[in-house]
Amino acid sequence: MLVLGVETSCDETAAAVVRDGREILSSVIYSQIDIHKEWGGVVPEIASREHLLKIDPIVEQAISEAGVSLKDIDAVAVTHGPGLIGSLLVGVSYAKALAYGLGIPFIGVNHIEGHFFSVEFDNEPVVYPALALIVSGGHTNLFFAPEAGKYKVVSRTRDDAAGEAFDKAAKMLGLGYPGGPLIEVLAKEGDPKAVRFPIAKISDGRPDFSFSGLKTAVMRHLEAEGVEPLATGEEPSQQVKNICASFQDTVVRSLTRVLKKQSLEFLPKTLIVAGGVACNHALREQASKIGKELGLPVLFPSRHLSTDNAAMIAAAGHFHLLRGEESGLDLSADVTIRLQNTDVEEAGLRAKNVRYKL
Ligand code: KG4
Ligand code: ZN
Repeated sequence: MLVLGVETSCDETAAAVVRDGREILSSVIYSQIDIHKEWGGVVPEIASREHLLKIDPIVEQAISEAGVSLKDIDAVAVTHGPGLIGSLLVGVSYAKALAYGLGIPFIGVNHIEGHFFSVEFDNEPVVYPALALIVSGGHTNLFFAPEAGKYKVVSRTRDDAAGEAFDKAAKMLGLGYPGGPLIEVLAKEGDPKAVRFPIAKISDGRPDFSFSGLKTAVMRHLEAEGVEPLATGEEPSQQVKNICASFQDTVVRSLTRVLKKQSLEFLPKTLIVAGGVACNHALREQASKIGKELGLPVLFPSRHLSTDNAAMIAAAGHFHLLRGEESGLDLSADVTIRLQNTDVEEAGLRAKNVRYKL
């Protein structure tokens, strides 16, 4: 089955053709980063206008690079939330019109579920139950998936997403946007023990994440040390590199300690780390270490599939289409959708002798 995936939830206009949910025939990503850079972050109005201009040529390119024609496509899968409403609407309207015109099914995909399916490429198939850390610019959640397509959020961020923390710290340091890759490069030459940033403790004791305190700690540290944001073209000092390394180390430790704690609680057979922040080598290394300690495989997407792309949307769409699910033409963009099945809660799942705590 050939699925055309379409992704426009934030600042990437992406289209991909995927065969049987696992083979990428083409994956085209147009990033608007250069346009938003100037403003230090994504400007929603500009993002939707850019999507409108680019969606048609990007889909055409994906079809042509796949070496197929539109009439070979069996279904269209599109991100319908969460994300920026104006951006989502462009993709959803386009996908609907295309599917209607071609007389083929189409399906709305939750963007976060897309990130989950990004590990379907270049990895062994996921063995369930799985515990998946999805870390991106907009989301930081840990999901327990007792079986394919069923999700329960077991840890979530109480404030900022991990990627957002990288972006904000980079902005304070005057490094630019997006912050994650820029901080990672400098962190390689810095000492992660140079500055002791705090890991937030959640007052009700739940194993959740929190990054807004870290952001404030970075700000206070910069003020106390008199570190100014880098001017254009200025070489970062050793002090800035140390701050980057210490900041990155704190984020990685906050993420992985929850991953480990919840692995011991939920006893999954597979760990998954996906989303834009999963590009980060320090996070990959630390998560792999936990996997080794617990004797669990850790699956990561290839780095080019960690950040937003349409191949992962096509893969998630394929999974649902095989189950006979498809969306009606009344499907709309929905920024509030969550990835959580109520029946996971209700079923009180059991596997062999393990009683999952949900
Ligand atoms: O998944 P993604 O492309 O978009 C969202 O769904 O949000 O993730 C983008 C986020 C940005 O916040 C970016 O700073 C972060 O992923 N990111 C990284 C790295 N590469 C991208 N964070 C840490 N280290 C990286 N190497
Ligand atoms: Zn994403």
